[in-house]
Amino acid sequence: MSHLDDIPSTPGKFKMEKSPFIHSRMRWHWQSSLAKLTFWSIVFFCLILIFFFRSPSSNPLLQDPYRRSLRTYNWGGPAWEKRVRSSARVRSRNGFSVLVTGAAGFVGTHVSSALKKRGDGVLGLDNFNDYYDPSLKRARQELLERSGVFIVEGDINDSALLMKLFEVVAFTHVMHLAAQAGVRYAMENPGSYVHSNIAGFVNLLEVCKSANPQPAIVWASSSSVYGLNNKVPFSEKDRTDQPASLYAATKKAGEEIAHTYNHIYGLSLTGLRFFTVYGPWGRPDMAYFFFTRDILKRKPIPIFEAANHGTVARDFTYIDDIVKGCLAALDTAEKSTGTGGKKKGPAQLRVYNLGNTSPVPVSTLVSILERLLKVKVKRNIMKLPRNGDVQFTHANVSLAQRELGYKPTTDLQTGLKKFVKWYTSFYSGGKKAAG
Ligand SMILES: NC(=O)c1ccc[n+]([C@@H]2O[C@H](COP(=O)([O-])OP(=O)(O)OC[C@H]3O[C@@H](n4cnc5c(N)ncnc54)[C@H](O)[C@@H]3O)[C@@H](O)[C@H]2O)c1
Repeated sequence: MSHLDDIPSTPGKFKMEKSPFIHSRMRWHWQSSLAKLTFWSIVFFCLILIFFFRSPSSNPLLQDPYRRSLRTYNWGGPAWEKRVRSSARVRSRNGFSVLVTGAAGFVGTHVSSALKKRGDGVLGLDNFNDYYDPSLKRARQELLERSGVFIVEGDINDSALLMKLFEVVAFTHVMHLAAQAGVRYAMENPGSYVHSNIAGFVNLLEVCKSANPQPAIVWASSSSVYGLNNKVPFSEKDRTDQPASLYAATKKAGEEIAHTYNHIYGLSLTGLRFFTVYGPWGRPDMAYFFFTRDILKRKPIPIFEAANHGTVARDFTYIDDIVKGCLAALDTAEKSTGTGGKKKGPAQLRVYNLGNTSPVPVSTLVSILERLLKVKVKRNIMKLPRNGDVQFTHANVSLAQRELGYKPTTDLQTGLKKFVKWYTSFYSGGKKAAG
């Protein structure tokens, strides 16, 4: 190869030379051109790559929110492992050691705190993305830290991190709540739904399948899988093949994926279809939350109506009832049956509705908030836009009642009172409502 190192740097210089060794010169010339061609091809290829990744593309998959969730996080080291171990240490007889994904989220915070309280070991995992105000997620993190729950900052798509966590702790259970929530955000960032609800879920199940022992998994699905189903109340046996949003489609895909991992690898899997969960530390992208913010700002509140003045209603479910359902699902989950990534026998696969069983019109929600906040609300009646919201949701929870002992006890009036109390104290403590 040394002759290649001697190639003159300019073609002109090369042409002017006269030599009797014409064949060797021609070969030399040919090799030189080939090297240059290779060099310029690499440069060209690199430029294309740089252009592709740096340009503010019109492709929503490459827009900021999605790319931000791919950032790398700092984890590892003896001090970090010690924190992980200590957070996941079981402190009660027959307690579980649970990995809670999405622990800085609304439901994740409440479930983690309840598990910790009864003596289970809990380790949180969350990527703290900015789908909504991350400072609320940080405040929830502080709350959990005070009760001894450590939230590892990382993404469920990070296999190395997940494998490390399973190497440090033999989790008995995974409570999987990390997801891209919300139906409207899909117009803006469809890739985030694929990233978290499909790719991330598959990645988590891959790691769980190879873990030894395999954990039992309880994961959050959604009532949105019922989509345009108009048979009420929604029962687990109803059709789920008419999703009305990308969110619903990815949740439905999640159920199919879970089915596959149960069938092939013997993972014990329980899916919970939550119905519009609300309460303290809730999500700012949900109506009860931003209505409260806007009512306090004296802004008019849009009230959607379906075709022919149809009422839009939701089966609002208070967070404490949902937490009880999550814990009952963990308590009744059987062990996974695979080892070394191979199924050794049939494993448990379940899906339950967790709702409140009494849908309330959104206009009633506004009236309750109006009374609790003592502000006269200006209502704007509008047509329900076709952006993924369905007209109503209504849960049949008899299966969860029979098998999990699930029985919701909080009505909307009582639950909203607790939410408003939290909201006013949280945002008067120097924190501002996001957006
Ligand atoms: N709250 C409801 O009304 C409701 C209704 C139906 C279903 N669900 C489902 O329940 C679960 C919890 O919902 P929530 O209301 O607590 O939402 P949330 O957005 O408050 O919590 C989800 C958490 O997951 C984290 N997360 C998202 N993608 C991640 C990733 N790739 N890696 C690591 N962390 C990631 C987010 O940062 C967030 O903190 C979700 O699966 C949601 O789809 C919620």
